[in-house]
Amino acid sequence: MADHSFPPLQNDLILRTAWGQTVERPPIWVMRQAGRYLPEYHEAKGGRDFFECCRDPEVASTLTLQPIERYAGFVDAAIIFSDILVIPQAMGMTVEMVDKKGPHFPDPLRTPQDKQYIELMQRKVDVAKELDYVYKAITLTRKKLNGRVPLFGFTGAPWTLLCYMVEGGGTKLFKEIKTWIYKYPEETKALLQKITELCVEYLALQVKAGAQIVQVFDSWAGELSPASFKKFSEPYLAYIAKHLPIRLEELGLEQVPMVVFPKGAWFALDACCDMGYQVVGLDWTHDPAESVKTVGDRPVVLQGNADPGVLYGTHESITEVVSEMVKGFGWADRKKGWIANLGHGITPFVKPDDLKFYFEEIHRLTK
Ligand code: CP3
Repeated sequence: MADHSFPPLQNDLILRTAWGQTVERPPIWVMRQAGRYLPEYHEAKGGRDFFECCRDPEVASTLTLQPIERYAGFVDAAIIFSDILVIPQAMGMTVEMVDKKGPHFPDPLRTPQDKQYIELMQRKVDVAKELDYVYKAITLTRKKLNGRVPLFGFTGAPWTLLCYMVEGGGTKLFKEIKTWIYKYPEETKALLQKITELCVEYLALQVKAGAQIVQVFDSWAGELSPASFKKFSEPYLAYIAKHLPIRLEELGLEQVPMVVFPKGAWFALDACCDMGYQVVGLDWTHDPAESVKTVGDRPVVLQGNADPGVLYGTHESITEVVSEMVKGFGWADRKKGWIANLGHGITPFVKPDDLKFYFEEIHRLTK
């Protein structure tokens, strides 16, 4: 049994949808909904470092709740304020968040011959201890949510995490990680497997702490060719989908819906529908109607997928994009199988009221 008891859930729309049920309207949430486009985010964060906010359960839960409060009645899920890079940190790597530049690893992984790789492969990582602050933030957030909406836990996908660990931050070239997969494929796979096992335990412990649905972010999936995706991403995503339910069962916990978001890997949608996830997230390069066809009879729900860039446009453009999306996902006929979101995280400088208009249009056009 879970260690905690929480107030009863008042809005379980996203959970029912994720389990494939017919529902009254599509649930909505937005990736990066707690973030820099919100003035209250900057206010609450103050002069604190980004990872300091993640490590402080009080601050992390406050930030998590901001979009739930601002958009009450529109947002059907919260996502815990944290980052995918807490896993490399738990593995012993230093990761800093550099203002306006993003994550930076001062000492990235060089080659598998390096002492650092050998140590990483040998080190036993205690994700219960190292990431205890995340579980505490989740438990506190569940209490503060008071049953308003379900809470997402999340992890980075092994492939995306390894990209960051080897590149040392964001990149356009992907020189280092491409060197790894084409020069050291076996060592790459061994480390991916190690990261994967940590991801399973990390997600299980997030559920134990109170997460009610989980998402795996494979933000760099689209950097792989279809053949490389099969080697370096798919097996590890599938391992998580297979082993998380087993681990939850061992821990005496209820099963939660699992979402996979393989950004940019449109070629892999068909394969992603057979990996064991209840929900597959689509970025904006997917055509919703084609994606619904690809899913076919399989019990897979789609999530997405408006271009986040539309929120820089006019209200007319937002209405048009929402209308195309609602039609594409076949909402009027199906009344199931779709969680409304953007096709990637919301970006800085979006006006919060324009996001509200996006939500209102989804409500209006799915009535
Ligand atoms: O609201 C939420 O979605 C919850 C919080 C959340 C953050 N990061 C907060 C954050 C989540 C789910 C993430 C996941 C994450 N982090 C991903 C996967 C999603 C994606 O966008 O593809 C990735 C690739 C990261 C790594 C990361 N963290 C980058 C590349 C950056 C900097 C660039 C950017 O787009 O912001 C971050 C920083 C980060 N993570 C911020 C926030 C709110 C901004 C920090 C700040 O400057 O205040």
